[in-house]
Amino acid sequence: MRLMPAMIWAAALTSIASGESSTVYRDAETGFTFSENSVSYVLGKSLTFRIALPNPTSASEPYNVVLQVVAPKDVGWAGLAWGGGMLNDPLTVVWANGNSVVLSSRYTSSRVVPQPYTGAAYQLFRTGTKQNGTHFQLTAKCTGCTTFNGRRLSTTGTNKLAFAYSAGRPSDPGSNSSSFPFHDSFNYWSHDFSTAGMSISAPLL
Ligand code: HEM
Repeated sequence: MRLMPAMIWAAALTSIASGESSTVYRDAETGFTFSENSVSYVLGKSLTFRIALPNPTSASEPYNVVLQVVAPKDVGWAGLAWGGGMLNDPLTVVWANGNSVVLSSRYTSSRVVPQPYTGAAYQLFRTGTKQNGTHFQLTAKCTGCTTFNGRRLSTTGTNKLAFAYSAGRPSDPGSNSSSFPFHDSFNYWSHDFSTAGMSISAPLL
């Protein structure tokens, strides 16, 4: 009987995430047109993941991507798994540190704290990276997030992505190689990359 509330909570969270589809979000501040999904990490609270692709994007070459994450401040850390699961794909982990926001590139082939990963390189954009009273937000370009282990994420359709969330904070939040506690929730969604063409001609990419 004691398991019941947790099971109901998990089922509700799953249905929330799987019922969502991507929307287009034009960000006046950065000029990017993002494909956006908001995913519940606890009931009633969401993480927002926005993805923008170069336009045009090569049909076969590796391509860069711009990621924007918006997270409520009660989030200790949030991670995006580009391959849709914890193992063997680039993980982008973000957290707030005082008034700044930290991005950490990770990777793991086993279910332990993922280690720093140099296969993906990030450029954090000052514009679009900020905090207010309730949320922190980060905007970064990634080289190496969309091609890994012989896989190349689709630019013309949807890709299965995953997130993980923890209320617990990294032990050394000022360092992007910090350890951090196990997640409290994770889930999956289909992110539409076909609508993620950026509207500005971006020398950034
Ligand atoms: C803090 C260190 C971490 C540990 C010790 C850890 C451990 C685990 C374990 C044991 C599972 C199996 C399911 C369970 O028992 O609940 C799991 C699943 C999962 N983890 Fe982690 N994890 C960590 C960090 C991360 C990060 C940073 C991400 C994503 C950015 C992530 C994403 C996932 C996902 C999506 C699953 C579901 C199974 C899958 O799709 O691969 N984890 N993790």
